[in-house]
Amino acid sequence: MNRSISLDGEALPDKWYNLQADLPSPLPPYRHPGTGEPLSPDDLAPLFPSELIKQEVSRERWIEIPETVREKLGIWRPTPLVRATFLEEALGTPARIYYKNESVSPAGSHKPNSAIPQAYFNAIEGITSLTTETGAGQWGSSLAFACAHFGLDCRVFMVRISYDQKPYRRTLMETWGAEVFASPSNETEAGRKILAETPDSNGSLGMAISEAVEAAVGDENTHYALGSVLNHVCLHQSIIGLEAKEQLKSVDEKADVIVGCAGGGSNFSGIASPFVPDRLSGQDIRFVATEPNACPTLTRGKYAYDYGDLVGVAPLTPMLTLGHSFVPAGIHAGGLRYHGMSPLISALCKEKIVESVAFDQGSVFDAALLFARTEGILPAPETAHAIKGVIDEANRCKDLGRSECIVFNLSGHGHFDLTAYQKFLSGDLVDSELSEDDLKNQLESLPAGPTIDG
Ligand SMILES: Cc1ncc(COP(=O)(O)O)c(C=O)c1O
Repeated sequence: MNRSISLDGEALPDKWYNLQADLPSPLPPYRHPGTGEPLSPDDLAPLFPSELIKQEVSRERWIEIPETVREKLGIWRPTPLVRATFLEEALGTPARIYYKNESVSPAGSHKPNSAIPQAYFNAIEGITSLTTETGAGQWGSSLAFACAHFGLDCRVFMVRISYDQKPYRRTLMETWGAEVFASPSNETEAGRKILAETPDSNGSLGMAISEAVEAAVGDENTHYALGSVLNHVCLHQSIIGLEAKEQLKSVDEKADVIVGCAGGGSNFSGIASPFVPDRLSGQDIRFVATEPNACPTLTRGKYAYDYGDLVGVAPLTPMLTLGHSFVPAGIHAGGLRYHGMSPLISALCKEKIVESVAFDQGSVFDAALLFARTEGILPAPETAHAIKGVIDEANRCKDLGRSECIVFNLSGHGHFDLTAYQKFLSGDLVDSELSEDDLKNQLESLPAGPTIDG
């Protein structure tokens, strides 16, 4: 059997799939963080180029991928879809498990799929510099790489705990030409305020976003780029699922279950969204999003308007949220430490099209070890949440004697996460769960004002 199903370069999709076209009901609008009024494109213009703003609100089903973007994506795409035969064997499951290997990109994850088009659309509109946040370091590296390709300066606010845990991610970003600051930093008003209150803060994605947005709005040549959550990011990531669909078709397979981890929702949306129309037209296909118990946005969050950042400068976003002031425990899956979730994925959860499940860090690393020892790839801690979900699904199939086809997104490798693996192997990994009281307190910080029906 051929374990690895490739597509040739010509099969690289020439259009992105836009899930907004097929949602059972349109997404509620973003709202202005100050006035609470629905946002206009002009409100977003200081942050994003016009093409990305159009994509953000578009309900066109297919959006063309510019040829220059396809060329750059072609550096590593199409990515392989691999049948995880050795994992199947170790589990003794009748399930057929496939993974879409996004770890083969230059940065080691799915993140460059959106970094390349974001840098491109900014560059062609005359922007010379981008700011961003990064949690795991994957997005910051991806944007640094993309900016190097389009001649843009890049400044990255990296969540303090990741900055300390992953010094070589910083070196990678600097190698690609970016400037990197540990967030909270002294570079911005928001960072200085947080440091004055909590000098030893671990940082959070919400804080780093506040800093990156502030650093962008003051300068007309600078824009801000977000690595997840927003509709245009999910749109760019649809290339994962579009390729996977073709690859499954080429071996006469149909997915029964699609699994992905969810931080802000972009890789999960990427693998899942092109299959959603099949479900809406009656195919029996399940979507399972996985997350940490330490930051249980999908499983325990509230569907409400909340700020996308800690300070409240980012738009009010209709999403599942744990409250914008929530600072998750310093787990090693830095990319899953975000208080909110993509509006698209939040809406699919609310419609019960997407199921969600949360795991503790220890069980996730057990899953990562089994995967590394069978399939060979050392997964990123974020990705290991998907693998834990897949193993549970495969064990369910074993218990029920069902030969289902399980497809998951291998969102990234963990070559820069060896400190986490070292801690796990030496028994020093600490688990943490969000208590009911803490959750209640966080949700009390939700902004008063607009509500989403239901
Ligand atoms: C390897 C990897 N997987 C998953 C994620 C989660 O992000 P998202 O939910 O946007 O895919 C991240 C975020 O940094 C990541 O680095």
